[in-house]
Amino acid sequence: MSSPFRIAPSILSADFARLGAEVADVIAAGADWIHFDVMDNHYVPNLTFGPMVCQALRPHAKAADGTRVPIDVHLMIEPVDALAAAFAQAGADYISFHPDASPHTHRSIQAIKAAGCKAGLVFNPGAGLEPLDWAIDEIDLILIMSVNPGFGGQTFIDSALRKIELARKRIEQTGRDIRLEVDGGIKVDNIARVASAGADTFVAGSAIFNAKDYASAISAMRTQLQAPLKA
Ligand code: DX5
Ligand code: ZN
Repeated sequence: MSSPFRIAPSILSADFARLGAEVADVIAAGADWIHFDVMDNHYVPNLTFGPMVCQALRPHAKAADGTRVPIDVHLMIEPVDALAAAFAQAGADYISFHPDASPHTHRSIQAIKAAGCKAGLVFNPGAGLEPLDWAIDEIDLILIMSVNPGFGGQTFIDSALRKIELARKRIEQTGRDIRLEVDGGIKVDNIARVASAGADTFVAGSAIFNAKDYASAISAMRTQLQAPLKA
């Protein structure tokens, strides 16, 4: 894949009555990853799906040539470790969690990696990046929330742009290959700004699944990612 950018449609906005077909359709439309939002009605005020649904979707997450399409699990649950292990078993590729939802952030990261997955840390709009001081050398992904977690279809919070810039600097200091993902309110009309702040991986739920044509929505985003930003 030549582009450094990844588009990760969130199936939170898909038709839950036909999830397997939705995953296949959005991959055929050009999705790079499938973003899987796990909510527990405790850490966030909403309830979605668990490892059994991930396992059922795993065979559908593949490209036309059979290549595996990563399932990007975003855990909005507390505590983290037991379900993270279950998601690893269920075929997740990336597993990210909120550091404030685990009493032992470092141990949770180790557990995810020991289970064979890539590990990510997620930062809410009101959270600082301090946990990275002690974890950045261990992780594969940083996920910056640009809405408060719990629901799709919210408006992008602009202060996320500054946080993405800070996270990008920290990644550069490590010299390691760490994905910088952003989640919430991503649309065709703001994705270029988010990329120019330093993000390389874009979650989009409603902007893709509420569109009539998924392929047009994804390709409009890619066009924005290629266009140099006007000052
Ligand atoms: C919110 C979820 C997001 C959500 C994004 O808690 O983490 O992944 O699906 O939805 P949109 O793109 O509609 O803001
Ligand atoms: Zn998410």
